[in-house]
This record gives sequence, structure tokens and C-alpha cells, in this order.
Amino acid sequence: MKPLIAGNWKMNGLTPALADVETVAEIVSTSLPNADVLICPPATLVHRAVQTAAGRIAIGGQDCRPEPSGAFTGDISAEMLRDAGATAVIVGHSERRQYHGETNALVAAKARAAWRAGLLSIICIGETGDERTRGQHLEVCKDQLAGSVPEGANADNTAIAYEPVWAIGTGKTPTIAEIGAIHAHIRQCLTRLGTARTAIRILYGGSVKPSNAREILATPEVGGALVGGASLTAADFHPIIAAASAK
Ligand code: PGA
Repeated sequence: MKPLIAGNWKMNGLTPALADVETVAEIVSTSLPNADVLICPPATLVHRAVQTAAGRIAIGGQDCRPEPSGAFTGDISAEMLRDAGATAVIVGHSERRQYHGETNALVAAKARAAWRAGLLSIICIGETGDERTRGQHLEVCKDQLAGSVPEGANADNTAIAYEPVWAIGTGKTPTIAEIGAIHAHIRQCLTRLGTARTAIRILYGGSVKPSNAREILATPEVGGALVGGASLTAADFHPIIAAASAK
């Protein structure tokens, strides 16, 4: 499978940001990188981003609620994202786990909702800085995978994003050896959970930028990247997409 390069805009982006969607889509359609390219803008921009992208890149959501509809003020369902033209959704991002108290069970329910609506679910896991210091990162990721990845996950409906919380937005990253070791561990955990899960792409996320993308993406078992800050402008995002082609 091609690597997946996914941009997570978080709570950033007003109408003028659609110009960056256009630029990325145009570059992708002309340079034909060896990567699947996805941008996850805020929900307010999803539909217009889909129109702007016009099929040249994929557009996704950043979260969804498990229910298809109902009295859940302010929430958005997987079906709504699909209706807006999204083809993927991030679930269980550490900022959702941290600021909204999302549990593994809720994240699994969101992943199932994504599948129900025909969306690729990008299920996020990753340890905190304290957990890494205490040497618990392997165990934490194993538990998060066991609790957040539902039965039935496969390479077509799911990608895993390993995002060490301490690396997100900090400019810090694990060493290449550490990324290789934890991705190999995640692959092993997925294999143990069920053979259908073995081909699932495992993305690395956390301070991916043009200067480190090539090395990270060349690491065994790294099947792409989930990019926050460096996905906000085409100028930064494009070199990361190009780095995936070199894989
Ligand atoms: P970052 O964010 O690239 O800005 O570190 C990654 C993420 O949170 O998905």
C-alpha cells in the first residue's frame, strides 16, 4: 500500500486556507507522488475543501460521535462527514483523549461509526512524556491498541497513527531507532490482535516537518505520517508528501 500522508489542521483554518488545499491538490495532481494524500480541516471547511480538492486529494474530519444522529448539541456524526464528502476521520487524537476525556472504548465506538459511514478511521495512540520516562510506552500503546481498535479492522478501513504526546507540537521527536522500535512493536500487537490487521498502515505523528520527513518515512513499518503544524501551509506540507515518494 502507498504511504498515507495526512494533515491534521486541528482548530485552524478560515476560508482563505482553502487556497492551501488548492495548491496541495494541484501539486499532487501534477507530480503524482507515491502517496495517498489527505487533509483534515476543521468541520466548517470540510465541504468546501472537498469541492476545492475535486478528487485530487482526500478530505477528512478530525473527530466524530458514534451515533449517526440525535440530540447531541455541537457534535458531528460520521454520516455527516461522509455527506460533506469526507472519506476519512481521525479518532482518538490525544487532544481529544486529554481535553474531552475520551476513553479507549469511546474511540473504538467512533472507529466503528466511521466504518458504518464508509470512512477510513485513523485511530490515534501514543504515550505521554511521563509514561515514556517511566519506560511504559510499549505497554501503553499495547493497551490503547487492544482497547481502541475494534474487531474487523483492516488495511482498507483503518490506519493507526502513533503519536507520542510529548512530540506533538513541541519540535521534539523520538530518535529514528525509537520510532522503528515502537512501530515494530505496534505491528506485533496488531498481528496478535488478528491477522486481518497486519497490513494496516501505521503512521508516525508528532513534529513531522520537511527536515525530518524523509528519514522518518524511510523507517521500517512507518506507513505514512500524521502531520499537524507542518500541514497548515502547502509550502511545508508539499516537501513531506514528496519525501513519501522517496520511500
Ligand atoms: P504536530 O501535530 O505535527 O504539530 O506535532 C501532530 C498531530 O497532533 O497530529
